[in-house]
Amino acid sequence: MHQVSSDSRCPFPPGSFNSMLRPPFVALVTLIGSVGVTNAWFRVACGDPLVQERLDPIISPGGNPSNHVHTINGGSNFNPTYTYNNLRASSCTNCFVAQDLSNYWYPKLYFQDPRTHLFEPVPDGGLLVYYQNRGDGDVSNGGAGLKAFPPGLKMITGDPKRRTKKFPIGLGTQDELRERAIQWSCLRFTVGLPGYDDNGTGFPTTDCEAGLNASLHFPACWDGVNLDSADHVSHTAFLSGLDNGVCPTGFVYMMKLFFEVTWSVNNFSGRWNATTDKWPFVYAHGDPTGFGWHGDFQNGWDTTALQNAINNCNNPNDPTGSGVTEACKFLTVNTADFANQCKIAPVVNEVINGTLTKLPGCNPLQFGPQDATIFTAATCPQ
Ligand SMILES: *[C@@H]1O[C@H](CO)[C@@H](O)[C@H](O)[C@H]1NC(C)=O
Ligand SMILES: *[C@@H]1O[C@H](CO)[C@@H](O)[C@H](O)[C@H]1NC(C)=O
Ligand SMILES: *[C@@H]1O[C@H](CO)[C@@H](O)[C@H](O)[C@H]1NC(C)=O
Ligand SMILES: *[C@@H]1O[C@H](CO)[C@@H](O)[C@H](O)[C@H]1NC(C)=O
Ligand SMILES: *[C@@H]1O[C@H](CO)[C@@H](O)[C@H](O)[C@H]1NC(C)=O
Repeated sequence: MHQVSSDSRCPFPPGSFNSMLRPPFVALVTLIGSVGVTNAWFRVACGDPLVQERLDPIISPGGNPSNHVHTINGGSNFNPTYTYNNLRASSCTNCFVAQDLSNYWYPKLYFQDPRTHLFEPVPDGGLLVYYQNRGDGDVSNGGAGLKAFPPGLKMITGDPKRRTKKFPIGLGTQDELRERAIQWSCLRFTVGLPGYDDNGTGFPTTDCEAGLNASLHFPACWDGVNLDSADHVSHTAFLSGLDNGVCPTGFVYMMKLFFEVTWSVNNFSGRWNATTDKWPFVYAHGDPTGFGWHGDFQNGWDTTALQNAINNCNNPNDPTGSGVTEACKFLTVNTADFANQCKIAPVVNEVINGTLTKLPGCNPLQFGPQDATIFTAATCPQ
């Protein structure tokens, strides 16, 4: 189920083919991840989720419940209110790198049966978090080196309100980069079949018989002062080329986070017809378009360990620079069996699995193209 477990020791970069993880005839239609493979990277794989529930300490600090259901990974002291010291005191993490007690979360995906209109959760293979040395600040690009995330940093990428694409690809503004940060590939057994879209476009429309790859680039630039901001965005910035380039003047170059989740949409292949039915997968925030795909991060790293890993485990010519996290002596990689034991009980008491008549919370499907309305219990139209 959690394919990531068997995958945790395989040093394949994003864009490479992993035969343990994917069926042997899967071919990706595009390999955008091959850009920048000469830069170093390592990854933090996560096992069975820590918890799934409607909490979001960044968007709804202290709020219980928050708007929509997330799959939450990382340090066990996750709760509606975040402090770095509290998170550092976590007793375990469901992700595999012991020095990292950060939390990583993203919305849960549901299948809506086209006949009954009922919702069922879609399994995924677990979160892979790539830590990528990118941008002009990286030593391999002639820069002075990247900085570890400051204690207390919170970051988001994507926007749950979005339901369409607004900007021409390559415009290069922060809003356009945020749109492009969302990427999809429809994993197919046959090369050349349609269904793949990229550069911040929405869900595919055809069956992805080997699963749906959803990925997210995070901002890699920090204003050097604020650990969060009112919009949760403006204290950070994307690199000018998203995956490379420069930070805005005065911003600090950090490692770049890249999330990769493979959804087992193929588990539902026999239950919809791509010719006659519309795409039946929807995010927990009432998003049937995919444009609202997003992810969140709150830092729980041992700062010294992360900075040591950045500075010393980045040689592109040896395994420390090519994704073998175990080769980095500053990091300890736990086994999947160990990580999978780290779970916490949900504090929001509601049913989120099984067959549901509606998405948890107030999340009616909103097809756009205008931005979705975020409802609260008080403003819920249903
Ligand atoms: C998933 O998509 C991203 C972005 O297009 C790509 O870099 C990555 O290689 C893909 N991974 C897999 C396993 O398909
Ligand atoms: C995505 O952007 C790249 C680089 O700008 C471009 O080559 C490619 O055609 C775009 N893909 C789509 C589906 O628009
Ligand atoms: C989903 O499909 C995967 C294989 O793609 C399989 O291992 C798993 O058991 C399926 N899960 C469910 C709940 O059907
Ligand atoms: C899907 O619908 C089309 C058009 O009605 C039909 O020709 C095809 O056989 C259907 N496919 C399946 C798998 O039912
Ligand atoms: C829902 O299912 C997921 C995936 O199997 C599991 O991790 C989670 O604990 C379940 N949550 C609840 C509240 O049943």
